[in-house]
Amino acid sequence: MSPIARLLLVAALVVAALGVPLVSSTTAQTREVNVYSSRHYDTDRTLYDNFTQQTGIRVNLIEGTEDQLIERIRNEGANSPADVLITVDAGRLWRAQQAGILQPVVTETLATRIPEHLRDPEGYWWGLTKRARVIVYAKDRVDPAELPTYESLADPKWRGRIVVRSSSHVYNQSLVGSLIEALGPEATEAWARGLVANFARPPQGGDLDQLKAVAAGEADIAISNTYYLARMLKSNDVSEREAAARLGVIFPNQNDRGTHVNISGAGVVATARNRDNAIAFIEYLTSDSAQDIFARGNAEYPAVPGVPLDPVLESWGPFKEDTLNAAHYAANSALALMIMDRAGWR
Ligand SMILES: [Fe+2]
Repeated sequence: MSPIARLLLVAALVVAALGVPLVSSTTAQTREVNVYSSRHYDTDRTLYDNFTQQTGIRVNLIEGTEDQLIERIRNEGANSPADVLITVDAGRLWRAQQAGILQPVVTETLATRIPEHLRDPEGYWWGLTKRARVIVYAKDRVDPAELPTYESLADPKWRGRIVVRSSSHVYNQSLVGSLIEALGPEATEAWARGLVANFARPPQGGDLDQLKAVAAGEADIAISNTYYLARMLKSNDVSEREAAARLGVIFPNQNDRGTHVNISGAGVVATARNRDNAIAFIEYLTSDSAQDIFARGNAEYPAVPGVPLDPVLESWGPFKEDTLNAAHYAANSALALMIMDRAGWR
């Protein structure tokens, strides 16, 4: 064999050895994934770096507020560079799906790792963390045994003692969406009227503001997502920690359907150019180590069962969660808003 023929043979063998990747569909993709996320925690950055180390796929992160990101992907249309959307609340993921900016993806890893009620039945989005929407009370003024359920918040004995954020916020739309499933629309509206009659003030501020109002004695009871209380308890500010120490947490409806839980989650964008990388990325976020970091970044519950909890969440103990599929209460959000509006919940 001539030296040139030998060289050609070696070259052919090298190409054959590399063969499959050279002609597979993945070569049409760059080794990157474009992630649009409304989460901005330093821990998330660590997570994305770990993914790059494991896979060689670079993560390009675009941050924005939840509604901005959905609007941005819509406006970018077919030219959107977005591969993955990460956002909070099933209500928003559902809206993104309705807006046509997500595509269905089902893989064995995702279906095995993520419990059924925390994901879209068709795979348009997947829950990655859980947050419970709980009742928080002033320990020195409220007996938690008197507030076993969301329904009990409408009892006239709590007149002028409850604070909650506006009905325009998706967290409340999702909660009320879950009540519509459990009680039906009429009973939910009657409940909402009773709750509004118990307000200590017109809705203002976010969940954290409601907790602070209870700690300051402006009200006795608040509705809040769990991570806001966890944040206060872990605050570097001693006055916030002292305020949080005056508050107790109730996981409602332990004797029937369980406490309403919502998710933060991710979906593959309809026009994703790096679809395989996007799927690999979301699958990576369901690994034990990623779940641990992702959930701890905001003191949330990991979506994957068996992953250790943040010590504050651990201290509250286990609770029964409502396993109504997130897509069901999310689909009720427009009706929920109408009901809250009719009940005078601004
Ligand atoms: Fe929040």
